Amino acid sequence: MPPTPPPIPKAELHLHIEGTLEPELAFALAERNGVELPYATQDELRAAYSFTDLQDFLDLYYALMAVLRTEGDFADLTNAYLARARAQGVRHAEIFFDPQAHTARGVAIGTVIDGLTRALDAAEQTYGITTRLIMCFLRDESAESALEIFESARPYLDRLTAVGLDSAEVGNPPSKFREVYARAREAGLKCVAHAGEEGPPAYVWEALDILGVDRVDHGVRSLEDEALVARLVADQVPLTVCPLSNVRLRVIDRLEDHPLRAMLDAGLLVTVNSDDPAYFGGYAGDNFDAVRDALRLDGATLRALARNSFRASFLDEGARAAYLKEVDAYEG
Ligand code: HPA
Ligand code: ZN
Repeated sequence: MPPTPPPIPKAELHLHIEGTLEPELAFALAERNGVELPYATQDELRAAYSFTDLQDFLDLYYALMAVLRTEGDFADLTNAYLARARAQGVRHAEIFFDPQAHTARGVAIGTVIDGLTRALDAAEQTYGITTRLIMCFLRDESAESALEIFESARPYLDRLTAVGLDSAEVGNPPSKFREVYARAREAGLKCVAHAGEEGPPAYVWEALDILGVDRVDHGVRSLEDEALVARLVADQVPLTVCPLSNVRLRVIDRLEDHPLRAMLDAGLLVTVNSDDPAYFGGYAGDNFDAVRDALRLDGATLRALARNSFRASFLDEGARAAYLKEVDAYEG
């Protein structure tokens, strides 16, 4: 057997750190913090990972967060992700977190951000991964709650690169968060938002025109609107697509039916990401491998996807160019 080639260098731009909580770490933290989990064993927990839709997943995602209590817990979670990401060729990661899901449980936002940044500050040295942090608002909470969490994050804004929008999409359009996005942009932050995962193309339009996003997270339903595709292509707005997530949350029936190739062919700036890898069956490299096999993508297409990941990132131009050179030099 020929040796397995190293994974292609890539950036991960759509990754919820709370979605990297593997059953093993969840049980270890539950024990450490004296938190009772509604599952007796790791296998029993894993058996619950069969989702009917986004909300069904979110119910478990929020429930399992109960084990995250201390700064050390958030640092351990982040280090565990970085180690796995590194093994799959991730060279740069732009990481979402959901502060409202923690403050609602009595965990201070400073505890969350200090824990995350403790791990991220050492990430380049320890794992050879550069990172950025993106603070997400929960769209099924009120606009006032988003404004409150943004104001409470002001002392930490220098550690954030962007704000984002996640959680239950349908019924919670981007326009609901117009004001907090205006404040974020005024503070010099970039803006991204989940849109067009379960929600309609109209939500992608709102993310672009009302929130002024720099990237759209998911965006797969954009294909239903020709004029929207034309706009996304013309402005080269990146879409952070998550193939395994789309199948697990039943946005797409089968990976073989995933529109990723059609999106590339349309000229969209598409990237491949893992979303919530502990829950959806794989990390960034696993997503690359899965679409390669299901959609029969050739080496040139995989290289284009890897290049897109750095093109779509919030890296400065020097670092971006260096990473693109790494992709070009890759012999897989
Ligand atoms: N969609 C919306 N919100 C989320 C997701 C997702 O896939 N993962 C974590 N929060
Ligand atoms: Zn997501």
